[in-house]
Amino acid sequence: MSKQAQKSMQQLRVVIVGHVDHGKSTLIGRLLYDTDSLPAGKYEELQAICKRRGTDALEWSFVLDAFQAERDQAITIDTTQIWFSTEARDYVIIDAPGHREFLKNMISGAAQADAAILVVDATEGVREQTKRHAYMLHLLGMRQIAVVINKMDMVEHSTERFEEVSKEVDHYLQSIGLSANYIVPISARNGDMISNRGDNLPWYKGKSLTETLDCFEIESPPLSRSLRFPVQDVYRFNEERILVGRIETGMVRKGDKILFSPTNETATVTAIKVWPEDAAKVEAGAGECIGITLDERIFVERGHIGSHEQNPPMLSNVFRANLFWLSPKPLKVGNAYKVRYGTHEATVTVQSIDRVIDTDDLEQYENAGEVGKNAVAEVTLRAKDMLALDPYSDNQKLGRMVIYDGYDIAGGGAINMDGYADQRASAPKSKNIYMVDHLISDERRAVNKGHKGGIFWFTGLSGAGKSTLAMAVEKALFEKGYHSYVLDGDNVRHGLNSDLGFSPEDRAENIRRVGEVAALMADAGLIVLTAFISPYRTDRDKARAAAPELFNEIHVAADLETCETRDPKGLYKKARAGDIKEFTGIDSPYEAPDNPELVVNSHKNDIETCVEQILKYIEEDVSLSDGQNVSLKEKAIA
Ligand code: ADX
Repeated sequence: MSKQAQKSMQQLRVVIVGHVDHGKSTLIGRLLYDTDSLPAGKYEELQAICKRRGTDALEWSFVLDAFQAERDQAITIDTTQIWFSTEARDYVIIDAPGHREFLKNMISGAAQADAAILVVDATEGVREQTKRHAYMLHLLGMRQIAVVINKMDMVEHSTERFEEVSKEVDHYLQSIGLSANYIVPISARNGDMISNRGDNLPWYKGKSLTETLDCFEIESPPLSRSLRFPVQDVYRFNEERILVGRIETGMVRKGDKILFSPTNETATVTAIKVWPEDAAKVEAGAGECIGITLDERIFVERGHIGSHEQNPPMLSNVFRANLFWLSPKPLKVGNAYKVRYGTHEATVTVQSIDRVIDTDDLEQYENAGEVGKNAVAEVTLRAKDMLALDPYSDNQKLGRMVIYDGYDIAGGGAINMDGYADQRASAPKSKNIYMVDHLISDERRAVNKGHKGGIFWFTGLSGAGKSTLAMAVEKALFEKGYHSYVLDGDNVRHGLNSDLGFSPEDRAENIRRVGEVAALMADAGLIVLTAFISPYRTDRDKARAAAPELFNEIHVAADLETCETRDPKGLYKKARAGDIKEFTGIDSPYEAPDNPELVVNSHKNDIETCVEQILKYIEEDVSLSDGQNVSLKEKAIA
């Protein structure tokens, strides 16, 4: 590798954002000057410009003007790169003439930043563009963020003001799922706490801006990351089967156990093949095109991804993407598109358009019906089968996809798994376990109870009325002689599921356990009513799969506004204030059922009407066939 190439690998790429006039350009000028990084002659040029414009003090933001001429000449790239170095390493500031170019470059991978500096004015605090720019960082999956509270000289270097603004920024960042690694008080104009600490902020004991930057990590080199071997093709020579592809990240060695996704099957590498042949080759790393042979004939095909067992990609049939849309034909809910990531192609349907961002002013629109050309959007996509996915924030190579409309590239995007759980099913831990048959048939149980068993799965937002309705239905069934029991989210979370919270993974486990328990209870002949938000379609589908013949999905439908107005437990209020995280409908998704057996509209109808509607449905479903009829009343009395 050339010296230059080595050096450029050690460069940390930074993007600087912030509200207009909060001091972005001044900071850039000052950073360059204080780190001795101004190209020869630029300082003199700056002095001359300032003199010409009649300013006494040096106006650091003019440094950028001096770079402008170069930018104007650079016709081929729409990103400007400005370099500076600290003693530790080199930096490049990535700048683009507008948000659109910036987002397009970042999302497509043409230019990527490792870290961001968010500039906030100490006198003004968080403003509209602070929020919009921070949101842009969220879209890009930025994890290394330094906030600088600038213009400390204009607030008399006050600790209190610094604390106040820090809190405000921190609160906003948290509300969009970001966090600041460092918050530094600075004065870009005077050069306090940028590269030099200065004399004006003695109370601040933290790191200066350049010290914080030096703590950020450059995305670790592909070799030291988790193995990703997307299979490009499978060659067969006589008896031998060779899987070929390019290792995107990590290393593979002869003898390694490889887990293939999405099939979830493992086999051991018996040889690593390269061309020209090299019998001594026992390992290969990122960037190498190789073939591998396995000790077992498991099913592997193009698009499958090989990894080690400890760090596999996520498996999911639903994921979110932050898309840059290029096609003149708008993206719409329900449309199907082909996506390609790694070597895999899959057809996905747009489940929802969660947010559209105008790339001119970064304004956000929720509930937008479609995504037009040149817009950025957060969308939820669903595939028929499980896909092996790496979120962009974990793996910039595999976490990016291209989306096609027919044969045309329609957009590009970053895969984001926020709000969605890994669906990789764990096989039973125990070995040597065998199923045992019951000696009582379902029919005999039903005759004994006077009705069949069944699962009636209530799903809906918090506050939609699931528990209220389920309890009322349970009572009504009981009084008619049925054997019924409610499994309720809040109740079950006190016992069986007291170890679970509200992360996507915990909710999946919550629903998995309840799905299994409900299946057992229904098998025992009971009418099981479950009242869980159960926000994910995939989780509910799995609960259904535990007892497909007995499962009935009941959507207790009330829109978010209605539930929020009811707010029976005061939780929406807390969630809006940021005191509860991952609250369904606020900052965690709710996926309404696609095709439920029953919908009860709890914001249009009163409780009695809903109860009657559900009762009617259940009684029909669990009634015995004609020959079996036993009077329920008699049974109830007996
Ligand atoms: S589920 O998503 O895993 O199905 P479940 O139905 O068990 O949720 O529990 C939901 C109940 O927990 C809500 O009715 C509410 O009272 C409470 N709760 C507490 N925190 C949250 C949260 N972050 N999101 C949703 N519900 C929450």
